[in-house]
Amino acid sequence: MKIGIDKIGFYAPHLYVDMNKLAVSRNVEPEKYTIGIGQEKMALAPITQDSVTMAANAALKILDEEDKKAIDFVIFGTESGIDNSKSAGVYVHDLLGLNPYARSIEVKQACYGATAGIQMAKGHIALNPKSKVLVLGSDIARYGLNTSGEATQGAGAVAMLISADPKIMTLEENSAFLTEDIMDFWRPIHADKAFVDGKFSNEQYIAFFNKVWNQYKAKSGLELSDFEAICYHLPYTKMGFKALKTVLDEGTDEDRERLLANYKISTQYNRNVGNIYTGSLYLSLLSLLELNENLQAGSRIGLFSYGSGAVGEFFSGKLEENYREHLHVVEHEQLFSSRIEITVAEYEEIFQETLPVDSSTMELDLEKDPATICLAGITDNKRQYVNKVFGKVPVMK
Ligand code: HMG
Repeated sequence: MKIGIDKIGFYAPHLYVDMNKLAVSRNVEPEKYTIGIGQEKMALAPITQDSVTMAANAALKILDEEDKKAIDFVIFGTESGIDNSKSAGVYVHDLLGLNPYARSIEVKQACYGATAGIQMAKGHIALNPKSKVLVLGSDIARYGLNTSGEATQGAGAVAMLISADPKIMTLEENSAFLTEDIMDFWRPIHADKAFVDGKFSNEQYIAFFNKVWNQYKAKSGLELSDFEAICYHLPYTKMGFKALKTVLDEGTDEDRERLLANYKISTQYNRNVGNIYTGSLYLSLLSLLELNENLQAGSRIGLFSYGSGAVGEFFSGKLEENYREHLHVVEHEQLFSSRIEITVAEYEEIFQETLPVDSSTMELDLEKDPATICLAGITDNKRQYVNKVFGKVPVMK
């Protein structure tokens, strides 16, 4: 049975910071951010967007009424969850009006969470071919103002519908994965920003890529020339390039040219959004599929997932006939073109806004946020969400 990505959608908040301007205000040469790191724009979540609302906004655009009835499993990968107990999947399930007879859970392993979700979804569909699984990857990447990680922040979500007979990409059987207990990046429960050993994290990312790539080749008998493109988890767009470079000598000139050209296309969306942790690899896949109009059905795409701490996986998929007809290219063009640039001073102010943690009530101004699904406030320590289409506006006390 073919199992894979039937639909894929994306959401980023409507605000962004220009990396050239951020560089100037940090006394850094702009080329360090735009070339050395490889980022142009950094998406910023206003206080009315969190991991729940971003995931729901991403899913809202791709699901029809039939999908909503057929989904019986919501798997939410995130490392910026809003509750240590209740899963973000349960909130999204309600905000989208999904079939109540469904499982809804949250999965955590840094940026690897959505990949774990996809693999779990594959198993579920294999046992229940009529089911559809909604896999979400949604995060806000925060390192802090004036930190070395600042240029690699971002916010956004990817939603994927995993099903039998998928319309976009069939996931192949072969997969290679690896776990090693390392401290390259982590966020203790008490912290709202990540701790990171930047250089070590870069080294480990490449080491993990090499290990799983070699294991994948041994398991599958495939080699570099079998791939039309390889998409990477992209904490910043130069990172995947550093990993790709280490294997390019395995191919011919033609392979190198093809893989480098497709790599560039696969980084365009990420370059303009920043790191979105769990959704990052799938945003890169979306960038490749939507911006390269010449990919043929049957082409094999490699996928490298990396979640600090760390778990890595290399797996692959093949494009389906007419896959382009099932993408949301126009909506995503609109999403990018309707974003609003904010100044560095405005970014700093928004970045520091927080919800109360002393049980007090806060009502948020939804007029400023054009998204359909927003956080309306907090009351009795409960986040109050609104789907403007459902008109379900919570009563704030
Ligand atoms: P840094 O110390 O600010 O930057 O940290 P740098 O000094 O290493 O410079 C970066 C690059 O810019 C270098 O290129 C410089 O040469 C270049 P490289 O040697 O790396 O190829 N550069 C310039 N280029 C052109 N013109 C110039 C110029 N100046 C300098 N004028 C770092 C950078 C990425 C380490 C930092 O931002 C950081 O710690 N970020 C967060 C951690 C991270 O993203 N790690 C990536 C791997 S781990 C991962 O992917 C998992 C993660 O997503 C979390 C999860 O799994 O949940 C992070």
